[in-house]
Formats: sequence, structure tokens, C-alpha cells
Amino acid sequence: MDPNETKVYTAILIAAGVLGIILIFFVITIIRHQRRTIRLHKEKIEAEIKTLEKERKRIASDLHDDLGPLLSAVKMHLHSLEVNAPDDVELITKSNSYIDTILVRVREISNDLVPHVLIRKGLVSAINEFINNLRSVQATQIDFLSEENIQLSQEKEIHLFRIVQEIVNNTLKHANAKNLLIEFRSDNNKLFMLFKDDGIGFNYPQASGNGAGLGLKNILSRVEVLKGELYIEAKTLQGTRYSIEIPL
Ligand SMILES: Nc1ncnc2c1ncn2[C@@H]1O[C@H](COP(=O)(O)OP(=O)(O)OP(=O)(O)O)[C@@H](O)[C@H]1O
Ligand SMILES: [Mg+2]
Repeated sequence: MDPNETKVYTAILIAAGVLGIILIFFVITIIRHQRRTIRLHKEKIEAEIKTLEKERKRIASDLHDDLGPLLSAVKMHLHSLEVNAPDDVELITKSNSYIDTILVRVREISNDLVPHVLIRKGLVSAINEFINNLRSVQATQIDFLSEENIQLSQEKEIHLFRIVQEIVNNTLKHANAKNLLIEFRSDNNKLFMLFKDDGIGFNYPQASGNGAGLGLKNILSRVEVLKGELYIEAKTLQGTRYSIEIPL
């Protein structure tokens, strides 16, 4: 090979090397940038969900602890009034019954915001109560099987309870199922949750696309906050399986 040719090849090799290095650097920068964007996005969702749960807790305890006693005090005052005119007695009786209704509603709303049974007795009892309340109004047979002693922080329990609520609501709202089986099992420091219905199924990629409801997105965000995995197997007319794995 003559010296000029060698020089040309060497120059091409060096140029290719430099180009290669620039390309690798470029790809690494893009990957890093994408990872950073995904991390920031997850952190933002996590912060939003935490703030939402904190606000719910605050409103629930304001309702329960402030409004409840105040309404009871109003009832007591009405009770101590001495009235004789039949019209006034009727008015007071009606007012008392309105206050009773408001007291019940306040308790219900506060309980929807933060299920008190979850705080008092834990996740399994809260799910049992949630399902029992649905039994009288729903045609779908819901069975819940679980170990009793699943040790979780309260924050994790609230996320899992919201996930259960959304999946059960989705099944009742959309699946037209006869049966829904919910199974919790822990193994190897992981919690495995399975929700299996025999309903009409759905097209998951389509349902999770733009313009869809918020429920599936919220489930996914909560599973991500819990550093878990979510798998949805759904086929039209073949039922739906939601499987979730959460590290304990
Ligand atoms: N178990 C299920 N069986 C059949 N279809 C389902 C089931 N779960 C979800 N889907 C379908 O997935 C879609 C998206 O669910 P998602 O919970 O995100 O929204 P939504 O329930 O319609 O509204 P939102 O939850 O915001 O009130 C539903 O509209 C429904 O078509
Ligand atoms: Mg939904």
C-alpha cells in the first residue's frame, strides 16, 4: 500500500472512531435524559398522590372531629327547648331528623375519604367490610381470600385499598361478571394480589390509551409508588385478570 493510501485509510479510521465516540456519547446522553424524565415524572406522581391522601385525611378528620360534635351540640340545644305549640314541636322534630341525616352523611363522607376501619383494623378487615357493603346491592358474587396477617405500613395499606376499590368498581361497572375472585398471598417478602372476573373482558391497550378514564392510570401510579408490578390480562369475552406484585 502506498504511503498516501495508508494516510487516507488512517484518516478515515480516525474520523470513524471520532464519529463513533460522538454517537455513543449522544446515545448515552439521550438515555440519561429519558431516565431522568421518567424518574422526575414518577416523583411528581408520588408527591401528588401523597398530597391527595394527606388532604383526604385532613378533610375526613375535620368533618368527623369538628362537624360531628357541633351537630350533636345543636341537637342537644334543640332537645332542651321547651315548646308547647304543636307547630313548633313538629318543627323541632323535623330539625332533629335532618340533623340525624346530616350526621350519618358526615360519617359516610368522612369514611369514604379515609376508611376508618382501615386505620383501626387494617387492610384485610377494610376490604371485607367494603365487599360486605356491596353484597346487598350487587349481583356479582365477590369472594375475597387472604392471609390475616399481612404486615404493611399504613401508607401502603391506603394505596392498596384504593387499588382494590378501583378494580372492584371497574368490575361492577364494566365487566358484567357473575363472579369476581380476589386473592391475596404473601411469599418471599412479596405480596401477590389477584383479581379475576368472568365478565366481558376488554381491550387493554385501547382502554388505557388517551381519553380513557382515570382509574387504570391511578392504579398504575399507585403500583409504581409501591415499587410493584401490574399485569392486566383481558380479552374480549374472556374475562379479566389483574395481577399485582408488591414488595413487602
Ligand atoms: N374488569 C373489567 N371488565 C371489563 N372492562 C373493564 C374492566 N376494567 C376496566 N375495563 C375497561 O377499561 C376502561 C378504563 O377503565 P378506567 O378505570 O381507567 O376508566 P373508567 O372506569 O371508565 O372511568 P373512571 O375509573 O375514571 O371512573 C373502562 O372504561 C372499561 O372499558
Ligand atoms: Mg374505573
